[in-house]
Amino acid sequence: MNQVSTRYTKVAVILHWLIALVVFGMFALGWFMSELPKDAPKQLGFDLFDLGIYTWNLAQEASPRTFYFNLHKSIGVTLLALIALRLVWRITHRPPALLASYKAWERKLATGTHHVLYLLMIAVPLSGLIMAINSKYGLMWFGIDFIEGLDNKDIRELFKEVHEIVGIVFLLVIGLHVAGALKHKFIDKDDTMKRMTLK
Ligand code: HEM
Repeated sequence: MNQVSTRYTKVAVILHWLIALVVFGMFALGWFMSELPKDAPKQLGFDLFDLGIYTWNLAQEASPRTFYFNLHKSIGVTLLALIALRLVWRITHRPPALLASYKAWERKLATGTHHVLYLLMIAVPLSGLIMAINSKYGLMWFGIDFIEGLDNKDIRELFKEVHEIVGIVFLLVIGLHVAGALKHKFIDKDDTMKRMTLK
């Protein structure tokens, strides 16, 4: 008999948590780097986030702002590729049906939130990529020249706004999603969280 799965595949679970971790890290990095001064002197070594854990040595001197902006762009492009992979996996592997115990409004809200999350997962890094391509600096991927900058100020500024606004919306929708997960874990005490784990 054909057994219908009640949980996500291992690949879906790994991609969900890996992407969630990188997304949280990118929000933190985004805020951290935007506070950095524009006139700080260039340096060769960077003690990552001043934590005293790892020092990143560059081949060419850069200001802290340039270093962290390049890091954000490099991780962002990698994240976009990972999200594209997740989308392909999602389209080719049907997710398990929602738990039968969900009320009608919970079904609608959970399904709607998941779809909006996929949309925002693409929109946030993609708007960042368009912004980077239209800057005068272009895009480097972990030190490798990737895309030359077009230096189009109007498009860059438009997508800077888009990147910030969709980023905030993304954070709000993630908040709703996490609140839903916690409600199922601690109030309903059902198996929702278990479905997103590697048994
Ligand atoms: C602490 C953070 C998070 C928790 C606790 C959490 C928990 C969960 C759980 C339990 C599910 C399975 C729901 C079900 O039974 O159908 C799920 C699905 C999902 N999560 Fe999260 N999540 C978190 C963060 C995120 C983040 C940051 C994103 C976006 C980058 C995200 C995107 C999604 C999507 C799109 C689905 C639907 C998967 C599908 O059906 O294709 N989650 N999450």
